[in-house]
Formats: sequence, C-alpha cells, structure tokens
Amino acid sequence: MQNPIIVALDVPEIETALQLVGQLAPVVGAFKIGSELFTSAGPEIVRRIRAIGAAVFLDLKFHDIPNTVVKGVAAATRLEVQMLTVHTSGGLKMMQAAEESAQQTALQSGRNAPLVLGVTVLTSLESHELSEAGMDEKIGRQVERLASLAAKAGLRGLVCSPLEITALRQLLPVKMQLVTPGIRTGAEKGDDQKRTLSPREAIDAGANWLVIGRPIYAAENPRAAAEEILASLP
Ligand code: C5P
Repeated sequence: MQNPIIVALDVPEIETALQLVGQLAPVVGAFKIGSELFTSAGPEIVRRIRAIGAAVFLDLKFHDIPNTVVKGVAAATRLEVQMLTVHTSGGLKMMQAAEESAQQTALQSGRNAPLVLGVTVLTSLESHELSEAGMDEKIGRQVERLASLAAKAGLRGLVCSPLEITALRQLLPVKMQLVTPGIRTGAEKGDDQKRTLSPREAIDAGANWLVIGRPIYAAENPRAAAEEILASLP
C-alpha cells in the first residue's frame, strides 16, 4: 500500500506551507492545497511542492457549467497535480466533462491523469439544511445518490466522511478510491470535527487515503505526529 496520509496545508502563507512540506515530505503521501492557500499563494505553491517531487491534491471543489469545469481541470492537470475535487451536485455531464478533461489533458502532455474526486454532501451540513436547500433530508441517502452518479460519470474517486466509508464500499465499484477527512488520533484537543475515526479505523473500514490537517500541522512536532500515525497503520 502507498503511504495514505494526505496532509491538509490549511495555512495562509506560502512560507509556512513550504516549511511543513520540507519537514513532512519524506513521511507522508501527499499535500492538500485548499482554497485559502491557493487563493493567497497561487499556482506557485503547487509548482514548488511538485518541484521537490511530492504529490499534490488540489482541493478547489469545482462546481460550474461543464465548459468552465473542463478548463479548470485542464489547468490543474497542467500543474501536474495528482488529485483534484469537483462537486458531484454539479451533475452527470459536469463530472463526465471533468474526467474527460483530466484524461485528455494528461494524454496530450504524456502524464498520468489526476484522480478527479467527487465531493458529495459537505459534512458540515445538517439534515434540516439539506431539505432547506431542496435536497433529500436523509443525509445517507443523498450521499449514496450522488456517489452512484459519480460512479456512473466515470469518476475514479470520492471524498467521504469516515462514517460513510462502509456503506459506500458496499455500493461502489471496488476500484473507487475513497479519500476521508475527519481523522482524529485522540491526542488532539476538541475542535469542530464531530464524526471522526482514527487513522487505523478509517483504513480498516476501506479508505484509501486519509486527509489529516490539525492533528499533524498543529502538533508540537508535525513530523513526529505524522510518523506516529504512519506507524499505527496496518
Ligand atoms: O484539520 P482537519 O484534520 O480537520 O482538516 C481536514 C481537512 O479536510 C480540511 O482541509 C477540511 O477542509 C477538509 N474536509 C473536511 N470535511 C469534508 C471535506 C473536507 O474536513 N467533508
């Protein structure tokens, strides 16, 4: 198994991010760049991390008309990221277009296509908020509906909460990669993640990748925290 730890670089400054990358690159599998860091540091942060050979997960959660998503995915593919995200609620055509754009752009430049990951229901949403927005108030049902749509569109991976892994494993093709945030080791102080599993539990349930932010970057010694998590895995 590859190293499944993806460190979320949820920091605003390029220097802080690169310092973390320098410490952690030998002991983790990839780095996730979200909207805060990308908006403040720009594509340069992706290039700098790729330049040292580390893998990048560009988490910008594209959700737009297919033509616009195609261009965003193509630009991310040209930056040589290994993973990126789109919202599954953008619909079948948008997801198909995203996957095709990743494949075509990679082919043109002789690279591997990035894994286009579908985001289903944000874990911050509660049941009444889903119905407020016109969706199925049963969160599990809404997640399964969108996950099936992602599989139908040809996406090869999904982001899901730790507590959705088991149900999605039963529903989806075995090859579907599941990427899971909401990972806690038990050593952290309370924060806003409510539905969590330990790294080992998430892998045992069927996750392929673990997105871990604060338990690593906010630890006193981020490298030791990452090494400890790695050692806890099967
Ligand atoms: O610090 P923490 O480990 O909670 O970081 C988790 C990362 O995963 C953050 O970047 C957060 O935005 C992201 N994420 C999440 N829950 C989701 C989707 C993404 O926590 N459902």
